[in-house]
Amino acid sequence: MRAVAILTAAGSGTRLGHALPKALVPLAGIPLVVRAAHALTSSGIVRRIVVTAPPEALDDVVAALGAAPGAVPGLEVVPGGTTRQASVAAALARLADEPDDAVVLVHDAARPLVPVRVVRRVAGTVAMGRDAVVPALPVADTIKQVGPDGAVVRTLERPALRAVQTPQGFTLGALRSAHAAASHRADDEALAATDDAGLVEAAGGQVWVVEGHEDAMKITTPRDLVVATALVSALVG
Ligand code: C5P
Repeated sequence: MRAVAILTAAGSGTRLGHALPKALVPLAGIPLVVRAAHALTSSGIVRRIVVTAPPEALDDVVAALGAAPGAVPGLEVVPGGTTRQASVAAALARLADEPDDAVVLVHDAARPLVPVRVVRRVAGTVAMGRDAVVPALPVADTIKQVGPDGAVVRTLERPALRAVQTPQGFTLGALRSAHAAASHRADDEALAATDDAGLVEAAGGQVWVVEGHEDAMKITTPRDLVVATALVSALVG
């Protein structure tokens, strides 16, 4: 089974508080986007990757990926959009020559330590006939829906909740249809989707969950970077 991948790396990373765009922030010496690209290629199933980069840092992202050992032959870098959804749409346009039945993985550079078995599990489940697949974990916290005034609206039923990670896997046809249906919302920060499976759901498609992994944690804050750095030493050591 072979897959193509979209690696979203065009975010600014404001919450990380770093001078560099988040994709170029080093994690134990290696930029997040480089680690994330390696996580995909190490799976042995990804034959092509389209990376979305901040337009102003395009050359730096190309340089970081090109300088990385074991660079992917089919790697392309495109300028991202103002929202994650618009960035994925830009990458999808670059994959116009791929067939609708190709397996596509959409992965966030903000999750650089995803284990290869999660990448393979997601892609393998799509290849077995599911159009949309997400890796996810049960949640430890109790989750409450809260109104704008701070008043609790309701408590969600924890056993049924899952925290969703990436890579999310799709048949290319399903992802194209979902993005086409939502294209009017791509540039609106408030309305744009925060994940691609959400677009499939909104278009009436069925999304399936497979087991994720704690190492696929998302790096958003300086604290996350500290935790991920410790994780790298633990994984290597
Ligand atoms: O900020 P957010 O959590 O939505 O970012 C998730 C991923 O999407 C990150 O890897 C980020 O680089 C990417 N992104 C993007 N284009 C944007 C915003 C975010 O590729 N305009």
